[in-house]
Parts: sequence; C-alpha cells; structure tokens
Amino acid sequence: MARAVFPEVIARMAQYFEVESNQEDRIFSAAELAQKLQDKDGVIATASERISAELLQASPRLKAVCNQAVGYNNIDVAAATKAGVMVTNTPDVLNETTADFGWALLMATARRVTEAEHWLRAGHWKQWRYDSFLGADVHGSTLGIIGMGRIGQAIARRSMGFDMQVLYHNRSRLAPELETRANQARYVSKEELLGAADHVILVLPYSKESHHTIGSAELALMKPGATLVNLARGGIVDDLALIAALRDNKIAAAGLDVFENEPALHPDFLGLSNVVLTPHIASASEPTRRAMADCAADNLLAALLPGKDRMYPPNLLNPEVLGKITLADK
Ligand code: 8YV
Repeated sequence: MARAVFPEVIARMAQYFEVESNQEDRIFSAAELAQKLQDKDGVIATASERISAELLQASPRLKAVCNQAVGYNNIDVAAATKAGVMVTNTPDVLNETTADFGWALLMATARRVTEAEHWLRAGHWKQWRYDSFLGADVHGSTLGIIGMGRIGQAIARRSMGFDMQVLYHNRSRLAPELETRANQARYVSKEELLGAADHVILVLPYSKESHHTIGSAELALMKPGATLVNLARGGIVDDLALIAALRDNKIAAAGLDVFENEPALHPDFLGLSNVVLTPHIASASEPTRRAMADCAADNLLAALLPGKDRMYPPNLLNPEVLGKITLADK
C-alpha cells in the first residue's frame, strides 16, 4: 500500500497477503518507491505515485498495479503491458460524487461564495449593497462540458433542474439515447462550445493529447462573463495562461480542484479573488473514498489470487497482458 488507506482495507488484504503499509503517509521518492517495490507482487497506488517504465523494469516480481483513482496518467500502461504487469483503476464508484463536486465548484465560482466568505470573515460586512458580489446566473444558462464520459454525463444530468442547455465536446459523439439522458446534450466542436457556454466544466482524462486543452487561445474564445471549472487533472489547463486571463478579466472566474505540479500551485493563484481553489477533493465523500479503496483491493485480490473470486481483475486496463502471463507466474 503506497499511501495511507482506510485501516479496514489493510486488515482485509492482510488476510491474504503479507502487507507493507504506509500509514504515516510519507510520499516516497522515485528511488524509495523502486526500493519498496523490488520484492512486491502487487501495489495499491494513487495518482501521486509515478509508475514509470524504469520503475516497472526495476520491479521484477511485480504483477499488478492497482490505482486508487479512475485517472491513470501516473502509470505507463504500455510499459506495464510489456513487463507483464496488470494495471487497474477505480471507475464508476466515483461518478456521482465527482459530479456533485463539479456542481459545488461551479456554483461557488459563479456565485463567488468563497470570495464573499473570506470578505465576511475579515470583518468587512458593514451594510448590504445592491452590487455586492454580483455573480453569474447558473439557472437558464448554457453549460459546456469537455470530456463527456461517465462523470461528464452525470454532471449533465444534474443540469436539468437548472433548466440549462448543454453543449459537449468529446473524442467521439455519444449514442443518441445517452445524449437524451444527458439533458439533450448537443455535440459541438471545442471552439463552438467555448464561444457559446456561460460555464465550462473540464472532465476529460489527461494524456499527451489533452495537455493544455485550455490555453490562451481557448481562453480568448470564452465569453468575458464565463466560468471555467477543472475537475480533471492539472495540465489540461495551462495554468499560466489561466492566471493571465483571470487577472485581466478575460473570463469572470475559475474553480479549480487540480493544478499543474500539484500539490504545489502557482503562487499567483493565491492572489486572485476570482478563483475558487480546492485540494483535489472531487471524489472525497466518505462512502466514495471507501468504495474506491475497496475497488482497488478487489482488483488486487483478483490479480494475485486468480480463481478465488474471479479469474482476472474487474477493472483491468490492459487485458492484452493476460496473454503474456500464466497462472503459474503468479
Ligand atoms: C483521486 C482522482 O482522489 O480518481 C481520480 O482520478 O483524481 C481522484 O478521485 C486521486 O487521484 C487519488 O488517487
């Protein structure tokens, strides 16, 4: 267990395996992680652990990397497949919780909730004013979703109650029945979406291709009163370009749960009042974080004890690997 986890998960794993845990939650350097994995058959990792080709090469016994996250851009999956290592993630269990948080961030950002609270706590509230903290309406507006996977669709479904129009952009168009369920979402180009949406939410996976999906050119296409929310991964937004756009009021505000180089964030964000900042907590409800941990544990059990509950992990990301390993290898 590369990071601290719910104690119940350690207890469950300890019924089957010799477990080395990290309940003090010290983040390992690449060298320390390599040293830890040298004699391990499986690892439960998080988005903080980079599972590189070099690390995989240096971990001869490793058979399974079970990420406690739906995103897996921290893992070199191609290298894992080559090395005969199964890779798993935790899809679905976090869809609804993450979608809830997308709305929390959107509402807080559009209606300036945290900015107003900081002002109040600082003792500035002396009288009501007609123009205090005027924000953007959410109801009746146009919502643009970039990345219309399971979480994007869950966000879109919630927009029905706000009487919104939904535009989306995705690698591929959804089936018509899914578009209907997603509040009649309309598939458009990224440029059309950016020009038409009052609120833009990013929920696409990070990859080389999605790096800086939103940079200065894209921010320039957005409406001056628009809100941008990033729930996906740091690196999808060019943080420097966003800081400039927020400073120059090219867009109204941003709500960010993820950052380039997190947990370090660009210090200029801290000086801006029109940005809501949260520390990568979109999936952080107690039941969902437990479900994610259980899901990673289920995957590890199935990977290392094939045949106990099932023959291979339920969330295997590289099924090609199955042809490369035999049960005797385990
Ligand atoms: C995790 C996430 O909390 O699932 C993901 O991809 O970003 C979050 O839900 C985080 O990545 C920890 O691994």
